[in-house]
Amino acid sequence: MSRYPAVPEGIAFGGDYNPEQWPAEVQEEDVRLMREAGVTLVSLGVFSWVQTEPREGVYEFGWLDAIVDRLHDAGISVNLGTPTAAPPAWFSRAYPDAFPVTREGVRVGAGGRQHACSSHPAFRAASARLAERLAERYGDHPAVVMWHVHNEYGAPLGECYCAASTAAWRLWLRRRHEDLDALNAAWGTAFWGQRYGDWEEIDAPRWSHTVVNPAQRLDYARFASEEHLSHFRLQRDILRRTGKPVTTNFAGTVNCKSMDLWRWAPELDVIANDHYLNGEQPDNHIWLSMSADLSRSLAGGEPWMLMEHSTGAISWQARGIAKRPGEMRRNSLAHVARGSDSVLFFQWRASRSGAEKWHSAMLPHGGTGTRIWQDVVALGADVRRLAPVRGGRVTAEVAVAWDWESYWALELEWRPTGDLAFRERVDAFYEALWREHVTVDFVHPSADISAYKVVVLPSSYLLTEGSAKNLQRYVEGGGHLLVSYFSGVVDEHDTVHEGPYPGALREVLGLSVEEFHPLREHETVTLTGGGTGRVWSERVHLVGARAEQHFADGPDAGHPAYTSHDFGAGTARYLAAGLTPAGLRPLLGALLDRAGVSRPRDLPENLELVRRGAHTFLINHGPAPATVTGLSGTDLLTGAPFTGDVPPGGVAVVAPTQE
Ligand code: GLA
Repeated sequence: MSRYPAVPEGIAFGGDYNPEQWPAEVQEEDVRLMREAGVTLVSLGVFSWVQTEPREGVYEFGWLDAIVDRLHDAGISVNLGTPTAAPPAWFSRAYPDAFPVTREGVRVGAGGRQHACSSHPAFRAASARLAERLAERYGDHPAVVMWHVHNEYGAPLGECYCAASTAAWRLWLRRRHEDLDALNAAWGTAFWGQRYGDWEEIDAPRWSHTVVNPAQRLDYARFASEEHLSHFRLQRDILRRTGKPVTTNFAGTVNCKSMDLWRWAPELDVIANDHYLNGEQPDNHIWLSMSADLSRSLAGGEPWMLMEHSTGAISWQARGIAKRPGEMRRNSLAHVARGSDSVLFFQWRASRSGAEKWHSAMLPHGGTGTRIWQDVVALGADVRRLAPVRGGRVTAEVAVAWDWESYWALELEWRPTGDLAFRERVDAFYEALWREHVTVDFVHPSADISAYKVVVLPSSYLLTEGSAKNLQRYVEGGGHLLVSYFSGVVDEHDTVHEGPYPGALREVLGLSVEEFHPLREHETVTLTGGGTGRVWSERVHLVGARAEQHFADGPDAGHPAYTSHDFGAGTARYLAAGLTPAGLRPLLGALLDRAGVSRPRDLPENLELVRRGAHTFLINHGPAPATVTGLSGTDLLTGAPFTGDVPPGGVAVVAPTQE
């Protein structure tokens, strides 16, 4: 099966198209303007359940037939959605118990979207019927090149606590733990007298006035991700019979905490990601890169699809910050640089009514006279020029561990400090590496990491014995492992590994940690190397490792803060402090050099350089012109020889000159 859609050629360009919002004459204009902009692929029907099935069991495909045919005549391919994210009013009326319920016990209301529970039998049956009918009708249509199931599973609500979910949860627990003794042991129910004597006694971990068993919460997070996944699979299996690839759009790989995307990824025929900039965040292009790198990593290095991003303002953020001139282009091409074979937007034409009318679109309310429209047309031309990039691979020598289970566990209540945040540590390491011009892959700690020169483990609190052994083998085999504080502390049940911390990693790190000394809010510590740390300090005892740096102040002044342990043919390093990105850079720089990681030198910090296949992408995020030496070839975007200069805010994509 093709891993990405059979769009005519090159990098797909387009976006979500919601023709049901518009009369026929506007649709006609839409298709004409799509051709003008160079659109090659649209996602259709993502929210059009009620148009497709206006009453239960009554289907109306005429309107969809007409637009699919019209798009086909215009040479535009269709990524056809199953509209299950928008249950119609008749569905909610007929099945009122299908509304999701929050952990606090609030029943979600209608009038929005995503208001049916993935575990509810009536919702499942209706979803399967819709997928059957769509597959029957459009499976052979030449315009339909792929399927788009549902929309952004887990967003905004990951966990549902309705009666159907609770029943499904008990079944899931029986499969996972097999017998009650095993469950009682895994959840540590001896504590606070929580022992269960019957499966039916077990409830979902609803909101309570104090902390609910963390192992139970962790299992519920796993269960919730699996339930949505099984709703996806139900539709996917039906649609796959058409022989066309099936995907679903992730609600931002780095932002979607509720879905374990390592489990989802192998179930999709192509990875599809939605990415929205946080308009107010400085240097938000760094987090765009991170989202793209995680998307590529989930795709196992293969090309993936940028399914949605924005041309400008995002209406669900507190302030709809417009993109500055050139920003949309840089954003789009950065995704392509990092492995996307598509540049797609939400949405084609700005809505006049409904919840998202203040969201930017490819065709704004102001029409073709606007700057955004002109930029979209120009971007379409750029994307066409990048056809040779399609299918190219990005290779990375450095990997950063990312594990959703550890993310969930770390951020449950009553940890050593409430300041622990998974993204804070991952972001700090990622930012430091980005500014060192190092492209990274993300890996699950149990994955095959043997090919990486450096692996970073940012606060991986939950680590199974198996993953710990995997990391140990990596170091034994010659790898350079960098572990940050509060890693390898508990197993998959949130049970502390036996013996001194960090139980799972003590041997490979050659040290033990006696006591944690979390810092007060705004308190910092300094390391002897000069870096500043926040959140954390701890008492490290060396058991074979050597101290590279010590705490210069704070509760552990004079004790090791950064250590190094030669183990087998490799080295395991440990950082006991929460260094800022600026503090991490020199430390990482030395490690990268030591491990022989190749990286460009003497580049301006704001110049993003990524190699994809034979092509080098240079994206200048800074206000000054950037010069790159030692790189020659043709700039695909201009067709002219690359001069070495990248103007402020500009992009070059350098292809080697053919001999
Ligand atoms: C999400 C959804 C889209 C749209 C955009 C707006 O990504 O999938 O339907 O709501 O957000 O940013």
